[in-house]
Amino acid sequence: MALRVLTFCSLLLPLATAFHQVLLEQRSAVPQGFRSLGPAPSAVDVTLRFGLAPNNIEGLQAKLLSISTPNDENFRKWLSADEVKSYAQPSSQSLAAFESFLSTHGLTTSNISPNGDWASITLPIAQANSLFAANFHSFTHPDLPAPIIRTLSVSLPAELVGHVEVIHPTTQFAVPKPKQRLPSFVPVNKQSQSRVIKRGAQAVDPSCDASIPTGVITPKCLQDLYGIPIAPATQQGNSILVPGYEDQWAQDADVAQFLALVRPDIPSNTTFTLQTTAGGTNPQGPDFARGEADMDVEYTIGIATGIPTIFLSVGGIFNDTALVDTITFLEGVPDNKLPTVMSTSYAQSETDFGRSLATRICNGYMALGARGMSVIFGSGDAGVRGNHVGRAACANNTFEATFPASCPFVTTVGGTIGLPPNEKAINFTGGGFSNYFSAPSYQTAQVAAFLDTVPADFGGTFNRSGRGYPDVALQAWNYQVVVAGEPDTSGGTSASTPAFAGMIALLNDQLLAKGKPVLGFLNPWLYANQKTFGDVTTGHNSGFFCDPETTPAFDAIAGWDALTGLGTPQYNSLLSAALAQS
Ligand SMILES: *[C@@H]1O[C@H](CO)[C@@H](O)[C@H](O)[C@H]1NC(C)=O
Ligand SMILES: *[C@@H]1O[C@H](CO)[C@@H](O)[C@H](O)[C@H]1NC(C)=O
Ligand SMILES: *[C@@H]1O[C@H](CO)[C@@H](O)[C@H](O)[C@H]1NC(C)=O
Ligand SMILES: *[C@@H]1O[C@H](CO)[C@@H](O)[C@H](O)[C@H]1NC(C)=O
Ligand SMILES: *[C@@H]1O[C@H](CO)[C@@H](O)[C@H](O)[C@H]1NC(C)=O
Repeated sequence: MALRVLTFCSLLLPLATAFHQVLLEQRSAVPQGFRSLGPAPSAVDVTLRFGLAPNNIEGLQAKLLSISTPNDENFRKWLSADEVKSYAQPSSQSLAAFESFLSTHGLTTSNISPNGDWASITLPIAQANSLFAANFHSFTHPDLPAPIIRTLSVSLPAELVGHVEVIHPTTQFAVPKPKQRLPSFVPVNKQSQSRVIKRGAQAVDPSCDASIPTGVITPKCLQDLYGIPIAPATQQGNSILVPGYEDQWAQDADVAQFLALVRPDIPSNTTFTLQTTAGGTNPQGPDFARGEADMDVEYTIGIATGIPTIFLSVGGIFNDTALVDTITFLEGVPDNKLPTVMSTSYAQSETDFGRSLATRICNGYMALGARGMSVIFGSGDAGVRGNHVGRAACANNTFEATFPASCPFVTTVGGTIGLPPNEKAINFTGGGFSNYFSAPSYQTAQVAAFLDTVPADFGGTFNRSGRGYPDVALQAWNYQVVVAGEPDTSGGTSASTPAFAGMIALLNDQLLAKGKPVLGFLNPWLYANQKTFGDVTTGHNSGFFCDPETTPAFDAIAGWDALTGLGTPQYNSLLSAALAQS
C-alpha cells in the first residue's frame, strides 16, 4: 500500500525534481546519420543494463601491467577467472546502494554477468525518463535494420554515483559496419587456381606483391614474408576465438575449398568449431556465406597450422550490446577452455560508444588479458577518419579514432601493401589517437617520438595525449579467399588481423611446448621489443578514396607511427624474444 502511495505521489511530482541527479553522459547533438522519430512511447517498457562499479579496477590494471611487463617477477603469471572476479565484482556497498534504489522504486533486476557487474532492469520509458533525467526518443539510421531507443543525456540518482558506471542503452549510438566498404570487399578479379598457387624460387614470390594489380596474398606469401612456420602446432590448450557479428556466417565448405586451394598440406577436413551466444546462428550453404566471417576463419586456420579456431557467432548487429555480450560470454568460460587468442575484424567510430561504455568494454578486455588471452582487433579501414570509409569524409580534418582499436588493453593491427624493402603503410590503414584513453605507459616513449615529427602547422585536429594505435601492421590487400564456393580476393585490416592472430597462436604453441605460459596481453612486451619488428617508414593514411596530396593524414616514419605501429611482426625475432623473456 505504501508503495502505491509513493508511486501515485511521484506522478504528481516528477521524481526528477525530488531527487538530486548527477549527469553521467551527454551528447550535444543527434549523431550524424541518425534521425529522431520523436519521443519513445511513455508506457512502453525498455530494458536497461547497469554496469555496476567494480570494487578494484585500478588494482586489476596495476596487476595486469606488472604481469605483462618483461622482467617483472610475476611476468606472465596470468590470473584465474576467480582472481579476476575478485577485482571486477562490485563491492558490497555498491550492491547495497543498488538494491536500496531498486526497492525504493519498486524495481526488480537480474544479474546478467558471471562477474556480477552487470544487472538488467525492465521499466516503462516514462519511469526511465524520470529516474535518470533522460528523454528517450526513437532514432533511425540508414545502416540500422530497425529504429533504436536512445537519449541524448542520462543522469544518475545521487545515491548511485560511484556505484553505477554506465547505463546502456542510453547515449550510445553505435552503428553496424558502414554499407560503403572498401572495393576489395566486393568480388573482383576472380582468381584461377593455377595462378594462385604458383610458387617461385625466391624467398617471397613476386606474385605476392599486392601493390601491382595481379598480386595476391596467400598464406604462403605471409609465411615467406614474416617467417611464419608451416609445420603444424603440437600443443593442446591453445585456440583462437573468432567472433562473428551482424549475421556474418562462416562456411565449412568454403574453408575446405580454401585449404585445398592454398594449403593442400593441411588435412582437408580441417575446419572451425562453432559456439554461439546472444542468439547467434551459423547456417551453412552458399546463400549464407559471408565474406568477413569466411576470410577471418580462413586466415586463422590457414596461418595457425594445427591450432583450433573457434567461431563464436554473436547474435544481432555489431552494436555496443554485442561487444558486452561477447565479454560476458567469455567471463563464463572456464580457465582451461579460454581461447588464448581472440581475433576481431570489426571497428567503429569511438564517439559512437560514448566514454562510459567504451571504458567499460575496454576494461572487459583488460580482464581477459589478465587471464592470458591476447585480445586482437583490426584498426579499421578509413585511415584517420573513424569508420567513415566513403569519399564524403575526406573533407573533414577533425580526425576520429576507432574503437575497440583505441582501447589500450587490445593489440591493434593496421595494414601494409607491397614487398620489402618497398612494403609501405596502405592508404586506408586505421590509425590515430584516442579521445577517451590516455597513452598507456608502455608506449609513451615511442608515441612521443612520433608526435615530435608531426609539424606544428599540421592540417588535422587530433588528441596528442591519447592512446596511439595501431600497435603492429601487416599485409592488408588482395588476400586470396573462398566465399560461397568462389575463389575471390578481399582485404582491409580485416585480413591482416586474423593473420597476426594466427602468428601469436603459433608463438604460444612454442611457449607451451617448453612448459612456459602463453603470451596473454601483448602490448608491454611488444613495445619492449620494438627492434624485432620490420619498420615501415612510408605511407600516408588519408583513406582509400581521398586524394593523398591534399588530404591531411599521418605519415609513416622510422620507428613507431600511427599507421603501422611498431611495424611488421617478424616471427623468428618474436620467438627468440618470447623464449628469452619468459
Ligand atoms: C580428418 O581426417 C583424418 C583422416 O584423414 C582423421 O584421422 C581425423 O579424425 C579427421 N578429423 C576430423 C576433425 O574429422
Ligand atoms: C543491438 O542489436 C540487437 C539486434 O541486432 C538488438 O536486439 C539490441 O537491442 C541492440 N542493442 C541496442 C542497445 O540497441
Ligand atoms: C567531422 O568529424 C568529427 C569527428 O568525427 C565530427 O564530430 C564532426 O561532426 C564532423 N564534421 C562534419 C562537418 O561532418
Ligand atoms: C584527449 O584525450 C584525453 C585522454 O588522453 C581525454 O581525457 C581528453 O578529454 C581528450 N580531449 C578531447 C578534446 O576529447
Ligand atoms: C589506395 O590504395 C589502393 C591499393 O593500392 C589503391 O587501389 C587506391 O587507388 C588508393 N587510393 C588513392 C586515393 O590513391
